[in-house]
Amino acid sequence: RGGSTLSSATTTVLNSAVASEETAAPVEIFRKDYEPLPHLVEKINMLFSIEEGKTIVTTELFIEPNESYNGKSRDLTLDGDETCVKLLALSLNGKDLEEGTDYTLAPGKLILKNPPAGAVLKTVVEIVPEDNTQLSGLYKDGPMYCTQCEAMGFRRITYYPDRPDNMAVFENVRLEADKEAYPVLLANGNMIDSGDLGDGRHYATWTDPYPKPSYLFCCVVGDLGKIHDTYTTMSGRKVDLQVFSESHNVHKLDYAMESLKNSMKWDEDRFGLEYDLDLYNIVAVDSFNMGAMENKGLNVFNTAYVLADKDTATDSDFERVEGVIGHEYFHNWTGNRVTCRDWFQLTLKEGLTVFRDQEFSGDMNSKAVNRIENVRGLRAGQFREDAGPMSHPIRPDSYISMDNFYTATVYSKGAEIIRMYQTLLSVEGFRKGMDLYFERHDGSAVTCDDFLSAMSDATGVDLSQFALWYSTNGTPVVTYDTKYEDGTFVLTLTQKSNSDKPLHIPISVGLLNKETGEEAVATKVLDLKEMTQEFKFEGLKGDVVPSILREFSAPVKLLPASGEEDEEALAFLAARDTDGFNKWEAGQKLFTSLIFQAKDAEMTDKTYDFAKEAFGRTLTDKESKDYSILAYALILPSEGTLGELVDVVDPIAIHKARGAVKKRLAREFATELKERYDELTAAMEGSEFKVDAESIGMRRLRNVCLEYLCSIRETPEEQKTAAELAMSHFKKASGMTDKVAALGALASMDGEGASARDEALETFYKDADGDALVLNKWFSLQAMADLPDILDRVKKLKEHPDFTLKNPNRCRSLIGAFAMNTAFHEESGAGYAFLREILEDLDQLNPQISSRMAGSLIQWKKYDEKRGQIMKAELQKLADMKPISDDLFEIVSRGLK
Ligand code: PHE
Ligand code: ZN
Repeated sequence: RGGSTLSSATTTVLNSAVASEETAAPVEIFRKDYEPLPHLVEKINMLFSIEEGKTIVTTELFIEPNESYNGKSRDLTLDGDETCVKLLALSLNGKDLEEGTDYTLAPGKLILKNPPAGAVLKTVVEIVPEDNTQLSGLYKDGPMYCTQCEAMGFRRITYYPDRPDNMAVFENVRLEADKEAYPVLLANGNMIDSGDLGDGRHYATWTDPYPKPSYLFCCVVGDLGKIHDTYTTMSGRKVDLQVFSESHNVHKLDYAMESLKNSMKWDEDRFGLEYDLDLYNIVAVDSFNMGAMENKGLNVFNTAYVLADKDTATDSDFERVEGVIGHEYFHNWTGNRVTCRDWFQLTLKEGLTVFRDQEFSGDMNSKAVNRIENVRGLRAGQFREDAGPMSHPIRPDSYISMDNFYTATVYSKGAEIIRMYQTLLSVEGFRKGMDLYFERHDGSAVTCDDFLSAMSDATGVDLSQFALWYSTNGTPVVTYDTKYEDGTFVLTLTQKSNSDKPLHIPISVGLLNKETGEEAVATKVLDLKEMTQEFKFEGLKGDVVPSILREFSAPVKLLPASGEEDEEALAFLAARDTDGFNKWEAGQKLFTSLIFQAKDAEMTDKTYDFAKEAFGRTLTDKESKDYSILAYALILPSEGTLGELVDVVDPIAIHKARGAVKKRLAREFATELKERYDELTAAMEGSEFKVDAESIGMRRLRNVCLEYLCSIRETPEEQKTAAELAMSHFKKASGMTDKVAALGALASMDGEGASARDEALETFYKDADGDALVLNKWFSLQAMADLPDILDRVKKLKEHPDFTLKNPNRCRSLIGAFAMNTAFHEESGAGYAFLREILEDLDQLNPQISSRMAGSLIQWKKYDEKRGQIMKAELQKLADMKPISDDLFEIVSRGLK
């Protein structure tokens, strides 16, 4: 489209009456109420004219009747957030429209009366990105304007059917802005035109040939640096790859580019999926509510998931960058080419894409390490969510604010459900199902049922019982009982879940000979389909130890029917299991028993000896080169994971008990820990810094040793020794991984260690030199420290000039980190009150972030009576707040139920 289509800009605001009405009461939306649109926007043209403090958005919508609609009404509802969008003009086929006769306005929408086929609706609106603190829609962040449209941000840019089942071709997207201040103009697809406008302004026009829902729209206008590379696809097409960031961060983009190319190759190899445009752009932004966004051909990333170099990013940061780059890239097929019919189907794209990124990371690094990391995450985040008031099936039945359903359940448990398909159907069967899914649904917006049908039809496997996983919330419990007699081993499995009917649960099992440790029966997938089911293994030569739920084949809690763990069997598995995941798991279970003994009474010699043996064997294992596995085997289960195992959580008691076990093991193995530490130091000295599995593993293991050694701090003498060790670790750090490990230890030091702590914190701050991501680490390490006066420290940090509630990363780094500290649960409830006060302010700025952070208060039923009541009272105060966002209202009211 040519120049500005804006004729003599009228200043009358057509929707001002709606905007000034009191905000609408929160509405609950139900999955069962889904109805197709009577009309579809099949094509759209947009013009963004960006000026300081005011952006004018002009659109042309090409509207056609929807064939699959069979309802009564012929009116088309356009979504539009009148608190953000001022409607300046509205015309249909060139004729201005009358409110009342041609259209009506209501909060959040504009209803267009019975548009004829082939209608072209033109809208002109004004928005103010500079005032958009919610970071949804078009907003300003530092030197750039950028958009975030998932799930419902597009309605904060213009009036439109803002739902994923309206897929349109964005044919012409024209951006106009000041040339000097904003040299880069980006949107989805390919650029087809650009040039000067004469008055110091310039423009670029983009087109995206692939029809897409509005949530995948994106434009970026800013002053940015970039790196460039190319990738040749399997069919020989050359794709230009560009990664943009603020100029001062451009040197930290190489790892993202590398990861992007690896992702593109991996998706071709594993799923036969090729990239479809000539250009792939990624932009890093500082203020972002989530991790990253898969906008077609123009991904937007939170800087935390794209910038990485050895001096500012830890090994875990590097791993996350690789994973998230993969995740967004994989969305191009699972999300963009095939998208969701409605938001209740979110797991269709998210569960599947998380599964794909996990498989990618597993292939790029170590499969077992990856599995352990993912299951640790699932237990700490998703199991906890599923046990509280936000519990929901991976396909929810209702929501008030969709933003609240980008959850661990939809994402991580969703990925586990996809993994179970693969476990049940085999890797080849799963691939066949994926092929059929794309064959059937490429270019459309579909449901979870469509995915299941493709999997079932491609393999001939009946998955009707498996479908229950989509509608059942909560974590199922599987109990097991065993019997061995005359060469026959009988395993009895019983399931219990929130479903009346039994779920179809794949349980991977292997049997190890009790005498020799040899594998007597290799891994087999058992189909648990009844409430209780017996599985027989015949013809065995001698008694066996079962290794159940290998690779964590289903997202369940596995417990012995007797209620008592067989510690001897656990010790055996911790030493000899051939399944990397279960070997780790057995050790974790031993540690868990020991920690709970310490909490409730005293550690027993028997359990301690088993745990000690497992710990000692791992620590002194000189054969294995899989250092990460060794490191994870030495780390005690997290307080969050431990809390999941009891009905009433006393966080301080759990913290103390875990600490007691840690210190006892540290003292027991002080010599070996130091030996291993020194060995690893020597092995790494002088060698070049690398971010490969072996180097990461060595650093990880060495840092675990450091952590144990630094936990020995009873006497002033010991405090000195620990501080000296951590300080030298800090000073000689080879990169950010070691620095963070050292500072993490130092941050909790007191007494003789206090001066080293303060010195290190100061040095770290100075070295950060204003780098936002490094400063985030500085805030969060302090917020997570184990010190008596932590709340006061956090309060002081909140007043620090570098702190702001406006940047979500910064907010999470201090406030979010504090909410994970045991000190948050300090008896008086001062931690809870502190959080509530912050949420009151934050909700006015950014409801998505305030509601997410409120998650720490809604678990009150899990805590002892006294704590629980204080948390609940704070929640009540939030509920009474006026105004309150829909997002926060939903979380808080679910929390109070
Ligand atoms: N769709 C994004 C992802 O998972 C997450 C996201 C959701 C980002 C909503 C922003 C807003 O990759
Ligand atoms: Zn995603």
